[in-house]
Amino acid sequence: MEPRDSLGPILAFLVVVLVAAGVAVGWAAGTYGNHSSATTVVVTRAAPSGGARAGAGTGAATASNVAPAVAAGAHTFVSFACGQCHGLDGRGGVSPDVPALRNVASNLTVAQLTHIIDHGLGESANPTKPYMPVWGAVISKTQVADLVAYIRAGLPAVPDATPVPVPQGQGAAVAGAALYVRYGCINCHGPNGLGGVPNPLSADKTIPPLSGQDFRHQFNTDAKILAVVRSGSVIGRAPIVSMPHWGGIIPGGDLTALVAYLKTLK
Ligand code: HEC
Ligand code: HEC
Repeated sequence: MEPRDSLGPILAFLVVVLVAAGVAVGWAAGTYGNHSSATTVVVTRAAPSGGARAGAGTGAATASNVAPAVAAGAHTFVSFACGQCHGLDGRGGVSPDVPALRNVASNLTVAQLTHIIDHGLGESANPTKPYMPVWGAVISKTQVADLVAYIRAGLPAVPDATPVPVPQGQGAAVAGAALYVRYGCINCHGPNGLGGVPNPLSADKTIPPLSGQDFRHQFNTDAKILAVVRSGSVIGRAPIVSMPHWGGIIPGGDLTALVAYLKTLK
């Protein structure tokens, strides 16, 4: 009888561990499933839709009271890192150089919003401040229409439209890999920094990779990489896509982590 009695608690413990692991996997799948841009892998969450979950949307909105286009716009807003500059749900507060979007809906028409997203705003040959990037070559017409629907709906909180979490205490490169997704670098520079995203009117015809011989050769110090990420680089007028100016937007620690991650690439 002795061995059986001591087995009980052990089995109970194992069950708890297995359930916790299952929850963690489901959570991770749901989180990464939010980033349904063309370049990322979409994992569908098995949990029933509408099910309450820690860390889901902050507002009162539920999946059922948001129109599909508005919900899609909210997810696109997160995956293209609009919120990293304009604040969570477009509430501002990130930088004095980036306006909040909450009150834009009543002032701007569909055509004006579409034009701003496609062509950018405030870009100059030598940016010293953040500007609104040119997205036309990168974001599809459907995604832009969804973004406009979401902005005009007043940027409601939508469940699960939240940026990827950044792992802490696991080294700069691990954090940097998550930040590469969180700040939307992946949408323009491709998974693993492989490049290949079209920029048809630019001299190179594509947005450059952040890996490979040429990149390593030209950007052979941390300082050079940091400088271009901070300052950005305007390579032509819209609809040519340029490198956004991230100075004043991305904190120093995050920049260091991004560089550490880029240096792990091929
Ligand atoms: C790198 C930072 C950055 C990112 C990322 C960014 N924006 Fe902007 N955005 C700006 C800045 C700066 C302005 C103000 C430009 C100006 O007025 O000269 C702006 C302006 C705008 C405006 C006009 C606001 C107004 O009051 O006139 C809209 C709409 C907008 N952005 C939407 C978006 C959307 C949608 C996304 C994501 C696809 C996005 N932005 C991503 C920096 C950013
Ligand atoms: C809207 C698209 C877009 C986004 C988002 C974007 N980049 Fe860029 N990036 C570009 C373009 C275009 C260039 C090329 C600029 C040039 O040739 O002067 C570039 C250039 C670079 C370069 C220099 C490489 C080279 O060969 O010129 C680095 C490093 C870089 N980006 C890092 C990043 C990081 C890190 C992020 C995320 C924080 C990011 N980029 C987000 C479009 C983008």
